[in-house]
Amino acid sequence: MLNIVIFGGPGSGKGTQSALIVEKFGLEHLSTGDLLRAEMTAGTELGKVVQSYISQGNLVPDKWIINILSKTIDSLKDKNGVIFDGFPRTIAQAEALEEILGSRKKSIAMLLDLQVTDEVLQQRMLFRSKTSGRSDDNPETIMKRIEVYHEITAPVIEYYKNKGLYQPIPGTGTVEGTFAEISRCISNYK
Ligand code: AP5
Ligand code: MG
Repeated sequence: MLNIVIFGGPGSGKGTQSALIVEKFGLEHLSTGDLLRAEMTAGTELGKVVQSYISQGNLVPDKWIINILSKTIDSLKDKNGVIFDGFPRTIAQAEALEEILGSRKKSIAMLLDLQVTDEVLQQRMLFRSKTSGRSDDNPETIMKRIEVYHEITAPVIEYYKNKGLYQPIPGTGTVEGTFAEISRCISNYK
């Protein structure tokens, strides 16, 4: 059982690397961004409520995120473990995750922090905006997402450093190079 948090700024490659981790290590992928976009597409009550937060680049309030996460976690097969992508993004979420896992006799093995400069984050998301169809992939919202990342989300790093679970990963190289480094960390842990 291996539960991993994949962390980093918007556009740092969390989704891209998660797909590779799933393929190689057989973990379940849990992305709060994907869950929220599915709610928006389905036009659920939650989807309607979160729409404006997401399109403006703000975080969705913790109570909704923690609620959707705890509901989803038990529906996962999680034989080998889970890769948490885009969660936790606040200290309150990190504490909630510890509690949710703890009550199921589970824990986080490591936080992989994809380190990418703001300039590269911006370039990647602007490039992706041509095809993604995401309401938050536009120049104004991209700037806001980066700002919110530094102000509210980056402090989560300290939380995991204090627990000895922090693992920085250089994220500006190629997808393959970044994945090789992630694979090394996971294999070492195992
Ligand atoms: P979320 O969906 O989590 O988006 P994000 O964090 O902004 O990050 P992205 O999904 O845009 O990027 P990524 O890191 O997955 O990178 P990717 O692999 O796609 O959240 C969206 C919103 O939902 C939030 O703003 C918030 O409103 C809300 N939300 C979600 N979770 C929440 C939570 N826990 N609490 C509160 N609110 C929450 O790669 C990006 C691009 O770069 C792609 O085009 C990719 O092909 C390319 N790329 C990737 N790696 C490389 C590489 N090495 N070299 C070159 N290009 C690369
Ligand atoms: Mg993503």
